[in-house]
Amino acid sequence: MSEIWTHIPIMAPQIADFLLSNPQGVYVDGTLGLGGHAKFFLSRLGPQARLLGFDKDEEALKMAVERVNDQRLTAFHESYTQAPKELKKLGIAGADGALFDLGLSSYQLDNPARGFSIIHEGPLDMRFDRQNPLSVEVIVNTWPMDQLERILQDYGEERNAAKIALAIMQARRTERITTTSCLAKIVENVYGGKRGKTHPATQTFQALRIACNRELEAVETALGALQDIVKPGGRAAVLTFHSLEDRLVKNRFKELAKSGEWRLVNKHAISPSYEETRQNRRARSAKLRVIERIKA
Ligand SMILES: C[S@@+](CC[C@H](N)C(=O)[O-])C[C@H]1O[C@@H](n2cnc3c(N)ncnc32)[C@H](O)[C@@H]1O
Repeated sequence: MSEIWTHIPIMAPQIADFLLSNPQGVYVDGTLGLGGHAKFFLSRLGPQARLLGFDKDEEALKMAVERVNDQRLTAFHESYTQAPKELKKLGIAGADGALFDLGLSSYQLDNPARGFSIIHEGPLDMRFDRQNPLSVEVIVNTWPMDQLERILQDYGEERNAAKIALAIMQARRTERITTTSCLAKIVENVYGGKRGKTHPATQTFQALRIACNRELEAVETALGALQDIVKPGGRAAVLTFHSLEDRLVKNRFKELAKSGEWRLVNKHAISPSYEETRQNRRARSAKLRVIERIKA
């Protein structure tokens, strides 16, 4: 069953070139996903290397372990915010490199049962971690209107945030909103139908997913603890997929560089090649930033 799901790792050779300076080193893959980057990295690393892989999604993690099938990988069903704790437990002072490939995998998006897709009918779920009691269904059916409006604005930069929040409130008064298509329809009606290539509910889905998984909080926490993840001389790479995440990373990296303890490896975000975006649609919005720890 697991072999039907795919996720093409983005900019894997470039990221490997940036991160893998020590062939026998310790590396952190904060977002193991289906193990695409992990497998690629391990193919370039020596027999003594170690890779600690984290993912909040237990199903994805199991598939990744199966696919990577390598003793050098240790997988953790945890948020990457727990990386400092796990490194410490293993007696590792810091990793030679860490990757955070943010957001969701194609497996999560393409699997209707996970409720991330606007176009496939599914339960309104969107949890990375299915042990999380907070699903998007809970959010849209119980959160007050001002909070819904705020997350649509803050996490979706949705220009119709107030109208959509109101439409959700009205719809849930009649019937509980339980499916992706039901929510997509509510937003579509606010927009007066579908126009152009992008579904009008795209920003709403993004905002609710970010809120449900507390995604930006996790990014902030990990970036705030990079010195407990990466050792001096080591590097961290972050792949982002929307402007909110990229802004966060860009600003945090700038602050770190100002401290004199870190240096920006690339001043501007790197985008995938035209060839890569042609082969992998998901790569289109990707941006890569890399930073190096130069001092303890
Ligand atoms: C873009 S995918 C990673 C794909 C992976 N690099 C690959 O090549 O297969 C992002 C993954 O990060 C996971 N994720 C999101 N937030 C997380 C967090 N705070 N901690 C750990 N994993 C997280 C998601 O569940 C998802 O599987």
